[in-house]
Amino acid sequence: MGCGASAGPKAGTPDATADQKPADQKPTVEPDVQDERAGATSDEKPTVKADAIKADATAPDSSKPDAIAPAKDEQVGSARERLARLLTEGCDDRITVDPKTGMHKYNGTNVPVPGAVSRSSCTFSVPTEDMFQAGLACMEKMGSSPDDANKMSGDICSRIRKAWQINESTAITLCPSGTDAEFIPLLVALVRAQRKGGKVTTIVTAAGEVGSGTSNASGGRHFAPLLPVSNGPPHEIGGSLFADTIKIDIVEEKLRTADGRRHEVDALDDQVAASTAKAIEDGADCVVVHLVVGCKTGQCMPSLQCVESLVATYKESVLVVVDACQGRMVDHGLQAFLRKASQF
Ligand SMILES: Cc1ncc(COP(=O)(O)O)c(C=O)c1O
Repeated sequence: MGCGASAGPKAGTPDATADQKPADQKPTVEPDVQDERAGATSDEKPTVKADAIKADATAPDSSKPDAIAPAKDEQVGSARERLARLLTEGCDDRITVDPKTGMHKYNGTNVPVPGAVSRSSCTFSVPTEDMFQAGLACMEKMGSSPDDANKMSGDICSRIRKAWQINESTAITLCPSGTDAEFIPLLVALVRAQRKGGKVTTIVTAAGEVGSGTSNASGGRHFAPLLPVSNGPPHEIGGSLFADTIKIDIVEEKLRTADGRRHEVDALDDQVAASTAKAIEDGADCVVVHLVVGCKTGQCMPSLQCVESLVATYKESVLVVVDACQGRMVDHGLQAFLRKASQF
């Protein structure tokens, strides 16, 4: 049974996803080549040979002319080095590469690893040489015609539309990560709420089994020590993005008991319905209700029926966000949710 809307009476079931592998589970990797443990902490010993990575990142590539017009501090180094550097920018500390190991927090690299067997991970991808060459070609294109950047991002959206069979009336916004993507529905909720008193509550479901920064981001709070811009203002994790001028309550709903057992689907639905009702009672003008379709342990919370009923009851005061980060859903699940979205 699947998580998609087409998948039967209750979307949220224990076996509801296409990908049953929890993100924390160690994916298969070639020993001594690449350790892609999605949940690995930075102090775990990686097995990639840092020298090999470094050698590849800095390998001069005389076949390619230097690409993008370099910024002042980028004027040294080959196109390969510049691309490697660009791949670590514009996001948060999760993609910062440790110069000692050549790897980021998730033990992946920003450059191809020669001889590595690349296997998929939903959390990040180590670039293969082919991917890296495609990146170099893009950089070169942008260097000769910077206006092409918009066209190229338009092309990415067209290819996503084609691959996922999404029609033109559906907007696509490219984001650095699923956590960053939380800011977009939050802005929609704020606009809706401003038409009334302005108060927003966000209900994070399957809390603790989604992104570690999800709650903060969906509540308009900083979730990482590093900002996408290099000279960003000083901030603290958990600090308001709006300098506390806007009140956003964050409610976390877990899908398990304290001893780790998953609640029944009906109980999870009741939990979400009750916290939505309470938020409205407490004066929220818009409640962002998350429907997680494939948390890190492959579970869904709440069911599609639950959010449909909340929207039927509270209309525009409930904004449903389908958190399908990492795409842990059956084929066509996305299209089914998009069809439903027109009713939300
Ligand atoms: C269900 C779910 N939501 C949100 C996120 C956050 O996405 P990202 O890691 O792209 O910021 C994750 C990350 O694993 C996730 O599994």
